[in-house]
Amino acid sequence: MAGRIPQAFIDELLTRTDIVDIIESRVPLKKAGREYKACCPFHNEKTPSFTVSQVKQFYHCFGCGEHGTAITFLMNYEHMEFVEAVEELAHRAGLEVPRESGGEARSGPSTQPHYALLEKVSAWYREQLRAHPQADRAVDYLKQRGLTGEIAARFNIGYAPPGWENLASALGNEKVRPGTVREAGPGDASTRKLLLELGLTVQREGSEGVYDRFRDRIMFPIRDRRGRTIGFGGRVLDDTTPKYMNSPESPVFHKGQELYGLYEARKAVRRLDRIVVVEGYMDVAALAQFGIGYAVAALGTATTRDHLERLYRTVPEVVFCFDGDRAGRDAAWRALENALPVLRDGREARFQFLPEGEDPDSLIRKIGREGFEAQLAKATHLSDFFFERLSGELDIDSIDGRARLVNVARPLLASLPDGMFRQLMIERLAELAHTRSDSLAGHLDRPATPGQALQPAAAPPRRPAAAAGKSPVRKAIEILLYQPDLAVRVGNTDFLKQCDLPGVSLLIELLALLLQHPGLNTGAVLEHWREREEGRFLHRLAQWSPDVDMAELLPDLHGHLNEIQRQFIDMRINYLSEEERHRRLSEAERREYGDLLVKSHTFRQV
Ligand code: UTP
Ligand code: MN
Repeated sequence: MAGRIPQAFIDELLTRTDIVDIIESRVPLKKAGREYKACCPFHNEKTPSFTVSQVKQFYHCFGCGEHGTAITFLMNYEHMEFVEAVEELAHRAGLEVPRESGGEARSGPSTQPHYALLEKVSAWYREQLRAHPQADRAVDYLKQRGLTGEIAARFNIGYAPPGWENLASALGNEKVRPGTVREAGPGDASTRKLLLELGLTVQREGSEGVYDRFRDRIMFPIRDRRGRTIGFGGRVLDDTTPKYMNSPESPVFHKGQELYGLYEARKAVRRLDRIVVVEGYMDVAALAQFGIGYAVAALGTATTRDHLERLYRTVPEVVFCFDGDRAGRDAAWRALENALPVLRDGREARFQFLPEGEDPDSLIRKIGREGFEAQLAKATHLSDFFFERLSGELDIDSIDGRARLVNVARPLLASLPDGMFRQLMIERLAELAHTRSDSLAGHLDRPATPGQALQPAAAPPRRPAAAAGKSPVRKAIEILLYQPDLAVRVGNTDFLKQCDLPGVSLLIELLALLLQHPGLNTGAVLEHWREREEGRFLHRLAQWSPDVDMAELLPDLHGHLNEIQRQFIDMRINYLSEEERHRRLSEAERREYGDLLVKSHTFRQV
């Protein structure tokens, strides 16, 4: 694939695209004042809280918190990858997507040959399942496990035959990267290097030689969301150990982000509204065979927050399927902890605990699709699992036990995003602890400090508090996001470089961007932060609209910038006067102190 898409092209694309057109053709919009409204396509609701702003060129749902630009909309609504969404918009706008030269990633060598080789290996494994002299054993095994040819084909299941040097001799004679010199021995040098990098071969200890990692195993290719093979899981045909082996991490394979079966689920189920997370490859395949095509598995690791973000971008409801035993419940609790920070309103997590000795594969063979879906429908809600487990471990009939409950629950609930679900969880905790929820809610948030509202932390301050105590940095950013072209009119802001307050560096960066690219709309600005943590925070601030006249925005902006300077001066003065009580200030510090006092005096007179 070609190189990275230049940011300047994204700017151009979003200037030429109207988000209202893009959304309107999929979700009928009604004009409401300066904005457009609809019932949110990302969660169920009866009254419209999904808002599209033509001026800002982005959308936001006040119900579930979904938000983004035209690109984000296509990614979330049509389940497109970033590049696909850009290509779709470019096509509509009659533009050609340019690529920067030099590989796919921002830096580092191209991964194109890795994908190409993985594809070949996958095809070769499939071919072995059909034609290898020992293929019968593998086919018999799959039959005995009850998998049909259709499911084997849907999941591209293959067979790695016995033998230590199959891959290099089978594939090494085709050049993967043109222009490399063939060396002696089996296979092409660059192919052998790639096989090793992908973990398909393993270096022999104390020698130059390598051998195939997967031998005499059923092979499950792991595919990314776009269907590219990125690694494999391989199962033995009998009881030897290890039962499963997985590709190691590689330049294209990241276990903490990828889920087995997600690509297949998106392909098989036209309108996905729920995903079941199970433990094993075989579980995913067996469920699919019985008509539950929406199961995925983590890759021999716990489900991470990245996994969950990825799942919730696809569906609003995730059901975790775990063993009912102690280990299963502990694993479920870890999944719960990872899920909390991503559980915005409109997203749901539930837990299905399996009967003793069953896994999804064995269970669905006994009770069938309907039975299994009936169990899914009864799966435990996250809130019930949460409080049952916590109160089960503590004696909540005693004051001490209830205090412990609050202490254990508090940091967990604090990691929930702002919203109705968080509010209800706090109320439930208050009920169990025999206390008032408003006193608990206060405890959840750390005390406000000037810039605190700016940290894109796991536990953002709740909205009313944040509104009351908004920092001037935040207010300045809000104005700039609302009306980006004010940046060219603020004048000199060099003093900001000295103001070491939270969020100031982001403000400086935003101002620099707007000066460099006048004419960007809000959506296009936000796209510059797509891959960064601060992007989520900027999106939040971009929802702000002024309740004053537009003409007052520039003076307001100046006011906030002054306030930043004043706050910083006060902070330094406090610091220096405090230090002065313990130690002798240096010459430079005393000079700074004097200057600050003068400046502070000037400020007070304005
Ligand atoms: P299980 O041992 O529960 O496998 O491992 P399973 O899916 O029921 O397997 P079958 O039914 O015996 O074929 C669940 C998952 O844990 C990982 C694999 O991802 C597997 O699918 N695992 C398990 C390993 O990575 N290595 C192992 O040795 C075992
Ligand atoms: Mn099993």
